[in-house]
Amino acid sequence: MGAMIAAASSRARVGVLVSGRGSNLQALLDAAEGPDFPASVVRVISNIPDVYALDRARMAGVPTTVIPHQDFPSREDFDAALDACLREAGVEFVCLAGFMRVLSAGFICGWQDRIINIHPSLLPSFKGLHTHRQALDAGVRVHGCTVHIVRPALDDGPILMQAAVPVLSADTPDTLASRVLEQEHRIYPEALRRLVQGRFVIDGAKAQSVAGDTAEGPRQALVSPPLL
Ligand code: GAR
Repeated sequence: MGAMIAAASSRARVGVLVSGRGSNLQALLDAAEGPDFPASVVRVISNIPDVYALDRARMAGVPTTVIPHQDFPSREDFDAALDACLREAGVEFVCLAGFMRVLSAGFICGWQDRIINIHPSLLPSFKGLHTHRQALDAGVRVHGCTVHIVRPALDDGPILMQAAVPVLSADTPDTLASRVLEQEHRIYPEALRRLVQGRFVIDGAKAQSVAGDTAEGPRQALVSPPLL
């Protein structure tokens, strides 16, 4: 029993920032239910009131805070309120999960290599908004999602994990988004797990996986359209 309590209390404390539907938050909450998951979500903060992500947090019993960005005279003042809330909650790692505000360099530097984001493209392609529309317009045959360490430049920073999906000829931004989202929900919790376990070495602009994680695995390529 004592060992179980020690294990539970040694989980990394994670704060999640959201602005909307919160399906990636849900993937993190679901993963954190696992007895061996090394992190717990201890606070969910939204910059928008009444978003569904807040309901998801409440259903999981996680404390929530709404910090409306328009209540603050500047980005730095808003970020200072975010920072204070995260620190008051004893947060160690921050996950952005559909958080649609750009964070200031000062905030990001205060959480050096401890903020991660999930972005719906294979970075460095298709930064910013409407990534699925951007991918269709560019005519790429493979698209996907990326978990990366957050750095001050938009959608930039060491890449931790990526998942690729084929682009199909009948795809619309919505059908492509749902294929990518399914993969987001797989890789985001896994990237968080590995980050808190120290399984990435951040070296400047790049992240390397530790030796065991680069072990032999399937080498099958995703070829799109498929070879017949
Ligand atoms: C996700 O697809 C996420 O990758 C994207 O917003 C969606 C949020 O969905 N994030 C960004 O575009 C950040 N630049 P969710 O609220 O259901 O997780």
